[in-house]
Amino acid sequence: MDQPKIDLLAEWMKESRRTVILTGAGMSTESGIPDFRSKEGWWKKIDPMTVSTVDALEHQYDLFHGFYSLRLSDLKKCEPHKGHDALADLEKEGHVSAVVTQNVDGFHQQSGSGTVHELHGSLRKIFCHECGARADEAAFMERESCSDCEGHLRPKIILFGEMLPQDVWGRAIQDIEESDLLIVIGSSLQVAPANELPFLSDGKKVIINQEETYLHNQFDLQIEGKAGEVLQLIRDKVLEGTV
Ligand code: APR
Repeated sequence: MDQPKIDLLAEWMKESRRTVILTGAGMSTESGIPDFRSKEGWWKKIDPMTVSTVDALEHQYDLFHGFYSLRLSDLKKCEPHKGHDALADLEKEGHVSAVVTQNVDGFHQQSGSGTVHELHGSLRKIFCHECGARADEAAFMERESCSDCEGHLRPKIILFGEMLPQDVWGRAIQDIEESDLLIVIGSSLQVAPANELPFLSDGKKVIINQEETYLHNQFDLQIEGKAGEVLQLIRDKVLEGTV
C-alpha cells in the first residue's frame, strides 16, 4: 500500500472544509456485489442492452425480471464492508460532507452515512412501471403484477436511456460544486453524466481505484488499491489522536 499517498490524502482531508465522495460499483465488490466492467463484472457476462433498458422491461420482462430479481436476492445476502463504515465514521467526525453514489445497493446509508445522493436510484425500492404505484419487494420477487393496474413491477433504478432524478442530481451537483476536495472511489468513470461530476469541483480531485481509468491523469492524486483497505487506513490517519 502506498502509505505516503494515504498520508497526503489524510492531510488534505483534515485541511478540507467540504470533502465530497463519489462512489461506483468498486465500492461494493468487497461486500460480494459484482461491479460492471471489471473482468468479473456484470457487463462481461450480459449485454446491458438486453436487460437494463425500458425496452427490455416492456418487451422482455422475463429477462429483465430474471436479472434484477437475481441482483436483489444476491444483495440481501451481502452487507456493507469496513470501507463503508470508515466513510460513515469520517462523516460523523466532520471530514466528509456528502456521499454521491452511482450504486443502488443502499450500503452507504446502511453503514450510517447520513447525506447520500443515489444518482442511479435504489434496487430496494419497487414500483409499478405503468402507474407508479409503490409495491413490496416480495411482490416483485414473486413476479407479481401491479395490484392496482396489472402493470410491470420494477426496482426504482435508472435504466439506460431513462431520465435521471433531477432533484437528486441537483443536490449532488450543488454539494460537489461547493467542495474543496472530491474523492472518487471504485468507478471506471465510463458512464455519463456521472463521469463529468468530478470536474464540477474547483478543489483537489483524488481517485482511489483498483485499476487505472482513462481519466486518471485528470486527478491530483491517484491511489491504486482496494476501497475497503484504503479507506480504513485513511480513516485511521485522519482520526488518529482524536478520542
Ligand atoms: N476497490 C477499488 N476499486 C475497485 C474494486 C475495489 N475493491 N473493485 C472494483 N474496482 C474498480 C474496477 O477496477 C473498476 O474500474 O471499480 C471500477 C468499477 O467500474 P464499473 O464496473 O464500470 O462501475 P461504475 O463505474 O460504478 O459504473 C457506472 O454503469 O452500468 C452502469 O448503472 C451502472 O452505476 C453503474 C454505472
